[in-house]
Amino acid sequence: MSVIIGIESSCDETSAAISVDGRIVSNVIATQKVHEKYGGVVPELASRAHQQNIVPVIKQAIEEAQINIKQIDAIGFTQGPGLLGSLLVGGSFAKGMAMALDVPLIPVHHMKAHILSHFIEEPRPEFPFLCLTVSGGHTQIVLVKSYYTMNVLGETLDDAAGEAFDKAAKIMGLPYPGGPEIDKLAVEGNPEAFEFSKTEVPDLNYSFSGIKTSFLYFLRDRIKADPNFIRDNIKDISASIQHTLVNMLLEKVEKASTQTGIKEIAIAGGVSANSELRIQLTTRAKNNGWNTFIPKFEYCTDNAAMIAIAGHFHYEKLSGKGERIDEQMLAVQVMPRMKF
Ligand code: KG4
Ligand code: ZN
Repeated sequence: MSVIIGIESSCDETSAAISVDGRIVSNVIATQKVHEKYGGVVPELASRAHQQNIVPVIKQAIEEAQINIKQIDAIGFTQGPGLLGSLLVGGSFAKGMAMALDVPLIPVHHMKAHILSHFIEEPRPEFPFLCLTVSGGHTQIVLVKSYYTMNVLGETLDDAAGEAFDKAAKIMGLPYPGGPEIDKLAVEGNPEAFEFSKTEVPDLNYSFSGIKTSFLYFLRDRIKADPNFIRDNIKDISASIQHTLVNMLLEKVEKASTQTGIKEIAIAGGVSANSELRIQLTTRAKNNGWNTFIPKFEYCTDNAAMIAIAGHFHYEKLSGKGERIDEQMLAVQVMPRMKF
């Protein structure tokens, strides 16, 4: 039996989870509310909140898993990418814990872990599959060949999709994070009410900075004519910008599927919680003969279950080689700009 603890602290969620033989038995997430009033994550406040949360979150994860801390075989933690101060809290805690328990320390790439969240529960995609990874910091189409081998086929050249949602929401005066707010308002809006011009980029890459600007100018012009334009049309505006962003995301996924011939299609990351993205993925799946995979809601946004699962696969590889904790492992550093 292998027991792995996963620790996630890359942005504004402090989370710990336990996997027993690759099955998640606890997943505790402390969300930091402190950022709401600032309209975005404040790095300094995030690290402070991680400091406060980390011990109770880890204790709770161990309690809920009904295991003894001494049963832990390895510690997986988010090495990057993310905010330096936030990563340091989880990373340093993981190092100390690994030293105290004399168990291996497993550095995990946050975006690869988002992809591996598809292996937390059934149904699991088959290799090779394509994964659209969409979060507040990243937008990528990844070719996933195995638990360990993944290639980025395309990515955003500027803003991430989540950032585009959040910035559009901010322009409309909605609270942070804006993605879920737009999603809620869009339910009752007309997705075809308004059109915004977007920048076309070649290959499988994305660009979201152009749409942000055209959205800003569109609202500025409308407000000039009618100061209550946003208030009176917020549902239609939300539905329209959401529709545009989701179309942009999925058009490139269709292109990637045609180019590679792969029909196993997954989505991951915070934006995969978006209702229209989920609905459109299902409709496009019917038209294209895709097999689609969408993680359970709690595994879409940042969580440690995905870190524990990534840790589990790496531990299996590691323990096969009979490796134990050594000085080199403890020298591992967090990497805010970790390469894929
Ligand atoms: O993966 P994640 O939790 O954190 C990062 O690693 O960035 O993603 C957070 C992003 C935010 O931009 C948030 O607005 C977006 O995911 N998001 C959504 C929804 N839920 C979260 N965007 C659109 N619709 C949603 N329902
Ligand atoms: Zn994330």
